[in-house]
Amino acid sequence: MSEKILLVGGGGREDAVARRLSESGVQIYAYLKNRNPSIISLSKDYRIGSENQADSIVEFAVKNMVDLAFIGPDPVLETSLVEDLLKKGIKVASPVRSAARIETSKKFMRELLREYRIDGNLEFAHFSRPDDVRDFLKKNSGKEFAIKPLGLTGGKGVKVMGVHLSGVSEALSYASSVIEKDGSVILEERVTGEEFSQQVFTDGKRVCPMPVVQDYKRADEGDLGPNTGGMGSISDASHTLPFLSSNARERSIEIMKDVANALRDGGNEFRGILYGQFMDTAEGIRVIEINARFADPESINVLHLLDDDFAGILNEIAEGDLRNSVRFRKSATVLKYVVPEGYGYSPKPSVLNISFSDNDSRRFIYYAAVSGDLTRVEQSTSRSLAVIGEGADIEMANSHCEENLKMVSGKFHVRHDIGTRAMIEAKMAKRF
Ligand code: AMP
Ligand code: GLY
Repeated sequence: MSEKILLVGGGGREDAVARRLSESGVQIYAYLKNRNPSIISLSKDYRIGSENQADSIVEFAVKNMVDLAFIGPDPVLETSLVEDLLKKGIKVASPVRSAARIETSKKFMRELLREYRIDGNLEFAHFSRPDDVRDFLKKNSGKEFAIKPLGLTGGKGVKVMGVHLSGVSEALSYASSVIEKDGSVILEERVTGEEFSQQVFTDGKRVCPMPVVQDYKRADEGDLGPNTGGMGSISDASHTLPFLSSNARERSIEIMKDVANALRDGGNEFRGILYGQFMDTAEGIRVIEINARFADPESINVLHLLDDDFAGILNEIAEGDLRNSVRFRKSATVLKYVVPEGYGYSPKPSVLNISFSDNDSRRFIYYAAVSGDLTRVEQSTSRSLAVIGEGADIEMANSHCEENLKMVSGKFHVRHDIGTRAMIEAKMAKRF
């Protein structure tokens, strides 16, 4: 069993990881780019530095004789860090680079689903010349597509015809700008329905599901405004969501199992967390994206409910010997991100004060891209604090979340509509 764990990353997701690891009784060694006061307070030692500097992270890990590592942010999975740590004899509960391509290359993901005939794939085409995109759009006139860079975009590079792009000429111009920047672009058929996130732990062979979560990416209430890294997220006591088709969770878990098996079969065994973004359409479940890490904020909802030894789970993943099931409380959660004013447009960071209502209340506030101390934080231009509520149903969880938000004061933006009864009822009414 590992006693010393390296944690890379300093956001809300990594704070949730640090909280559960500290409950496992292990020593945390954190490598992060911001002085996250919660992660720092839970760590035995920490280093501030760029998370893409594999050499410096390895040196920190070796110096502190850590025996297990876990990586939060996606850009780090594109560096040589996991291989470098493994070469030093350090176990890692995150995927090697070749396996992380399931997220870092959308082309690799779509082709893997096609090759292994995995359910839920979308029609897609890959282009490296604007003229070919023009011909394709002409041939498919009347159809709408999502236009995506192949690689990581921080949730901000995808544009959908009929949502962000009106008409063929805007679509062509956006696709051409992606080609100019990256050399190629991917077009996928546009699908509509409710989106949901299904995350699983996997040791490459076995797959252990977490509760389903829905996240809200748009900056403003009513799902308006630009896409962001995520403004909040909800989960239900049933571990699925009331407005999804009855088999949505089951089908998505099957797809995640098929993906883990296909990766292993192709010589890219995946150890870590797979996070599938799905759309529940009238024609069935469709895969929007497969990611190679915990989602942020969705990981916070599920880690908040984790009723198992997290360090033990990570150890089993790294050793290729994952248990059969992981326990999560049967409660609902509503999470709202406190972000700087103007987030998504032109963020204006300021200072926030947190006054805990009692000794227990710190566990409902997760610290993200902030620095400072536990009761006074400086915002950056990214998300600041994830405030969560837990309850018997989504409505109760929402009222606890709103109550917990009162502990935070200062200038900030938050989406109060996430998890309200009105929002859930509107989604129920749209069910097919
Ligand atoms: P992504 O960064 O791939 O998660 O995409 C960002 C958002 O764009 C998703 O959450 C969806 O709302 C939307 N999107 C992506 N792909 C599609 C698609 N094929 N059809 C419709 N919407 C999509
Ligand atoms: N929730 C969006 C993401 O983590 O990519």
